[in-house]
Amino acid sequence: MSKFLKLTAALLCLAGTAGADTLGLGRPALPEEIAAWDLDVLPDGTGLPEGSGSVEDGEALFADYCAICHGDFAEGVDNWPKLAGGDGTLADKDPLKTVGSYWPYLSTTWDYVHRSMPFGNAQTLSDDEVYAIVAYILYSNYIVEEDFVLSRDNFLEVEMPNADGFIIDDRAETEYPRFAGEPCMTGCKDAVEITMRAAVLDVTPEETKAKKVQQLVDATNPRNPAKAAADPAPAAEAEPKAEPAAEAAPAAAEAPAAPDPALVAEGEKLFRKCKACHQVGDKAKNRSGPILNGVVDRAAATVDGFKYSKGMVSAAEDGLTWDDATLRAFLTKPKDVVKGTKMSFAGFKKDAELDAIIAYLSTFHD
Ligand code: HEC
Ligand code: HEC
Repeated sequence: MSKFLKLTAALLCLAGTAGADTLGLGRPALPEEIAAWDLDVLPDGTGLPEGSGSVEDGEALFADYCAICHGDFAEGVDNWPKLAGGDGTLADKDPLKTVGSYWPYLSTTWDYVHRSMPFGNAQTLSDDEVYAIVAYILYSNYIVEEDFVLSRDNFLEVEMPNADGFIIDDRAETEYPRFAGEPCMTGCKDAVEITMRAAVLDVTPEETKAKKVQQLVDATNPRNPAKAAADPAPAAEAEPKAEPAAEAAPAAAEAPAAPDPALVAEGEKLFRKCKACHQVGDKAKNRSGPILNGVVDRAAATVDGFKYSKGMVSAAEDGLTWDDATLRAFLTKPKDVVKGTKMSFAGFKKDAELDAIIAYLSTFHD
């Protein structure tokens, strides 16, 4: 049991004894009530219930309960948190911290999902469902294979990429030494005084914002019969026509037969920014974005089995081909080149980045 919970339990008991006499409030907490609060799962696996779940089941559950905010592949929708990707970015100026790139313990993911997700409908998932969803988040981060089944038994065998990335900062001037001791449980303060209220602090959300969140929450509520109907179509798809911006960038001098290996290596690094959504190579599959093998000089929207946005389909009908110029323009500002594209990518700003990523992509053939 965490210190926080011990404290909570102690406060509930206090309310039941001392408070009851003077204020007529409270009663001792029941063992079951304390157990319901005591959900912690620790890095060593303490607190994990029996159960298991597969990546395959997790994928379906994630699509139903999580994808509306976190994306089909945990890549995040709009500003909702990304749960996958970001590997190799921790030393960047703007690191992408996700379960895969940053979280050192798998127990945190299990505990977090079990305790607080889906957002607004916390604790509606069964233990097996949590195992399955966590397995799927691992799969989305390329930490496990698609036939993986996560259970209490193999939980500690999963290797988290950033497991060694944290140290305890126990220097005297940090707060650690102060919090590392036993907490005070009785008679710690003479008097307690209320100094501020939530309404004054302005922590109560504005109504409009709250409403929008509530709509999302309703849409993912497993018990909401209107859920199926409420699945929003991405607004961007409704946009009508796309104009290929063929003239947006100057046509490059004809591409060299074999690209410069240093440039390709640079491009491979940059491809990390694409990996949350795209795969290349022999085993590539469509993820939330299409396979990019052979994309250079290929007609747009031609990968089998990938569902492109209406905008991309109509740009392709208008003759969009991914040559050097159109790729440069698209990877600088996707939405300027293909109106209504569902590719959310901030865009490269430097020519050198464009040179490198296109060189890299050009090494993969169909
Ligand atoms: C209605 C939108 C919504 C839905 C649906 C939703 N989440 Fe979240 N999720 C959030 C928000 C918002 C946060 C950030 C909360 C915070 O920082 O306090 C978050 C945070 C997380 C995090 C921590 C991310 C991090 O790096 O800090 C995980 C893991 C997570 N969600 C998993 C899930 C799973 C699994 C599901 C489905 C069972 C789910 N979420 C459903 C909105 C949602
Ligand atoms: C957040 C997910 C996401 C990221 C990140 C992303 N893409 Fe995409 N990409 C997509 C989606 C989705 C599509 C399909 C767009 C559509 O249908 O409108 C797409 C389409 C494309 C296409 C057109 C493919 C075709 O078959 O016509 C290219 C080229 C492309 N992306 C390259 C990249 C590159 C290179 C990067 C990294 C620099 C990248 N994308 C990053 C999601 C993403």
